[in-house]
Amino acid sequence: MDAAGLLLRPHTKSHKSAFVATRQLDAGATGICCAKPSEAEALVTALLDERRLDVLLTSPIATTATAGRVARLALDAEVTVAVDDVEALTSLSEAATSVGSTVAVVGDVDVGLGRTGVVDASSAARIAARANELPSLRFAGLQGYAGHVQHVAPRASRGAANSAATAKLGAARDEVQAAGLTIDVLTGGGTGSWILDEADGVISEIQAGSYVFMDREYRDALDGDPEDCFAQSLYVLTTVISANQRDFVTVDAGLKSMATDAGPAVVRGGGGTYAFFGDEQGLVTRSEDVALARGSRLMLVPPHCDPTVNLYDHMWLVEGDRVLGVCGVVARGRSY
Ligand SMILES: Cc1ncc(COP(=O)(O)O)c(C=O)c1O
Repeated sequence: MDAAGLLLRPHTKSHKSAFVATRQLDAGATGICCAKPSEAEALVTALLDERRLDVLLTSPIATTATAGRVARLALDAEVTVAVDDVEALTSLSEAATSVGSTVAVVGDVDVGLGRTGVVDASSAARIAARANELPSLRFAGLQGYAGHVQHVAPRASRGAANSAATAKLGAARDEVQAAGLTIDVLTGGGTGSWILDEADGVISEIQAGSYVFMDREYRDALDGDPEDCFAQSLYVLTTVISANQRDFVTVDAGLKSMATDAGPAVVRGGGGTYAFFGDEQGLVTRSEDVALARGSRLMLVPPHCDPTVNLYDHMWLVEGDRVLGVCGVVARGRSY
């Protein structure tokens, strides 16, 4: 990111861990992204004695109660919120004024995903102008997350889709600047687009999350592309619990052990194919080269990292066969 002249603000929705966030910040990240206020509250609380976090909340908020929580969080951390409705600014401003905090705002622009964000540049300019005039708010820039682009293959198609997405963010930027407002940050991008974002030249801060772990879905999509330069670091350790069948064994990782939205896991090092085998178990086919005795252990590359991590209280930190430590998934279940 330094070489590209971009900032990295990793998305902690992937790991929900104060330990990993700390490592990312120590390695030069400009701050962190959190998906929801509760995720941010958990990380800010966990690290309160060590550092003042700089957090971008990437999902819009919709109620005065949530505005109050965000305003209070801004007493203990630098907080920026993505906003896609001018009405949200009023409650945010009132809440921040009443507790004595300042909340920064990025206008959330829909760049093609359609999930959140304003759908035209003039709405982005309205949010910018209003955030600029309301007390206790600071207009910081724009967010445009191209989630629909990240897994597009082949790379040429991903590049074309990303250019179209960032052009929408660029149009919103131009309209905001034409209204005389200053943009400090244009935030967006992810594990599948970060090099393309550099080439497109609109985004200034990358929100990649999955890169820290990777998963089977990203491996399939990126498949040796320049973006596919991250080691697999997340595995689900599973044990063979029954080995009486000729063609397969049964392992103790099933639908409750991994995200199920993105197909099956992959066995590290090959030697068998994994399939879900109900809530509690999985099936691994036998192959000639690997003996799968009862009690043997396998490492599975999870299909989709973020919702897999959210199923566990802890992650074991290992190097080869050595356990180096354990870290809590402190924001597990904090999705509100
Ligand atoms: C708003 C936002 N930014 C960044 C990311 C990180 O994307 P990735 O995990 O693909 O790097 C996500 C993931 O869903 C997201 O929703």
